[in-house]
Amino acid sequence: MCGIVGYTGHREAVPVLIDGLRRLEYRGYDSAGIVVPENGGLVLEKRAGTLDVLEQALSNSRFPATSGIGHTRWATHGAPTDVNAHPHTDCGGRFAVVHNGIIENYRQLRNWLKAEGHVFKSDTDTEVLPHLIEHYYRDDLYQAVRRALEQIEGSFAVLTLVTTEPGRLIVARRDSPLVVGLGEGENFIASDIPALLTYTRDTYLLNDGEMAEVTPDFIKVSDLNGNPVHKEIFCVNWECEQAEKGGYEHFMLKEIHEQPRALRDTLRGRIDQDGRRVVLKELNVDPDTVRNLKKIFITACGTAFHAGVVGKYIIEKMTRIPVEVDIASEFRYRDPLINPGDLVVVVSQSGETADTRAALREARRRGAHVIAITNVVGSSVAREADDVLYTWAGPEIAVASTKAYITQLAAFYLLALWLAGERGTLPDDEREAILHALREIDTGVSTLLADADQIAALAQRYKDQHGLFFIGRGLDFAVAMEGSLKLKEISYIHAEAYPAGELKHGTLALITEGVPVIALATQPDLFEKALSNVKEVKARGAEVVALTFEGHHDIEDLGDHLVYLPATHPVLAPILAVVPLQLFAYYAAIARGCSVDKPRNLAKSVTVE
Ligand code: F6R
Repeated sequence: MCGIVGYTGHREAVPVLIDGLRRLEYRGYDSAGIVVPENGGLVLEKRAGTLDVLEQALSNSRFPATSGIGHTRWATHGAPTDVNAHPHTDCGGRFAVVHNGIIENYRQLRNWLKAEGHVFKSDTDTEVLPHLIEHYYRDDLYQAVRRALEQIEGSFAVLTLVTTEPGRLIVARRDSPLVVGLGEGENFIASDIPALLTYTRDTYLLNDGEMAEVTPDFIKVSDLNGNPVHKEIFCVNWECEQAEKGGYEHFMLKEIHEQPRALRDTLRGRIDQDGRRVVLKELNVDPDTVRNLKKIFITACGTAFHAGVVGKYIIEKMTRIPVEVDIASEFRYRDPLINPGDLVVVVSQSGETADTRAALREARRRGAHVIAITNVVGSSVAREADDVLYTWAGPEIAVASTKAYITQLAAFYLLALWLAGERGTLPDDEREAILHALREIDTGVSTLLADADQIAALAQRYKDQHGLFFIGRGLDFAVAMEGSLKLKEISYIHAEAYPAGELKHGTLALITEGVPVIALATQPDLFEKALSNVKEVKARGAEVVALTFEGHHDIEDLGDHLVYLPATHPVLAPILAVVPLQLFAYYAAIARGCSVDKPRNLAKSVTVE
């Protein structure tokens, strides 16, 4: 995610802003910028690349201004370029804005503002904000920002300033964090606490729907309607490293807990207002191609491949188009039988994985239309594909992928429902029921996260095991694969995922007294079959952890431990079922003293074959 800093006080603002941005570097970014009011105008400097590039650009001048705002950008709308970097300004160069979040209705607003005569410089959604503020400004920035934000659908943390009121910053948030740091004769604003810790530990944590007027001497907090809000001071007692992780012990745990927010961002703006259809404006596949689709291929590596396996099941189920799913390093060399007009979906968090890139090129060479599901705007995969479905998970720092996976799943549900809608292969009421449940799935994930202690206790129990099995059928098997990989890569416990019905063809020989088996049984049509597999392993002495929806009494009698998923449409079970498995891997790794965020032998981005 992007980083925001703001300062108003008695010091020179530029070094304070740069220092704050440096402390947010760990989050990942692709461009950076600052703006300060000076001599009745704005001094604006922004650059694609690292903060060093920005500092270099600033190095020959000194700026006496004592207020300003700064930003590190992780590109969403528009490539990572100088022009698209924040801050953004209005036509007259009087208002400057930095923004985290996504403005869903920016296209409509942009068209309207253009018709009003506003001239846009960038491809970003953010740029509508300074123009809206310019439109509403009547000598009071606070009121203009309030009016502008009334027009915005989506999420935001914003900092704004105007040349005519230097020293007065107006800030606001909805669904994107923002913290005000309290100083003496100076105040600070940031998207994250580490940016403030050099200067203060006293903060106001703004809540969703709150805004604040910040000057060197006072901070007035209100809601977005202008009603005053009383804030208690929150004193931060974290050290810097802990603060970078948002108070969590590891990035992985932080990212697991970010999943409800990440899911909301993936779905945002992609389901129509009345919740009946998926709208994927970013796809340029023409309706005829969709109607005539004969075959879909999905290809990816590791965790992204596991998301692809879920993708295969749900696309086939909802659209009746045959789907092949391949590991990219296999796909690229197996001479796949792709025909022009086939659809190939490549999945990659980083968008830089060498095998996935090669698979993408192979698919294009053979005339397929390629859709990339990726997290990194402007990545190689995003640039080389015909169309891109961004996951908007925000930067993932832990090597083990969690929020990227869950948002890849969400992207696949959107794609499958969109294809089904275009082809008319799913009854309307069924599609709407799934969409309804999808819109609420983030709350199910939050419920599971609130029960992490139960999973931590299970991890403690099994931490010294030499091996574990994950079994399931259909979608449950797809999730079992991901659960098994997560456990292996960070706890170094050997684990295998097995299609439950396949055990008796060999692997059952390994099920002996006390061997832990994590059995996923979430699919109503396969439940009885899954149950008989649980009986099979129980009869050989296995200790079963059953993962199911509440109300399955038979499995309740068989499982030694039960993990319940909150109710949802069963086809969406993977989004919920993976959460306890991620937590299980995390707590097992902790219990074994492993390096969770940087497991041995692994790198975050595999750019070599
Ligand atoms: C496992 C993990 C890896 C990646 C794989 C592909 O937790 O993160 O298996 O999923 O290396 O990476 P991307 O998605 O960047 O192509």
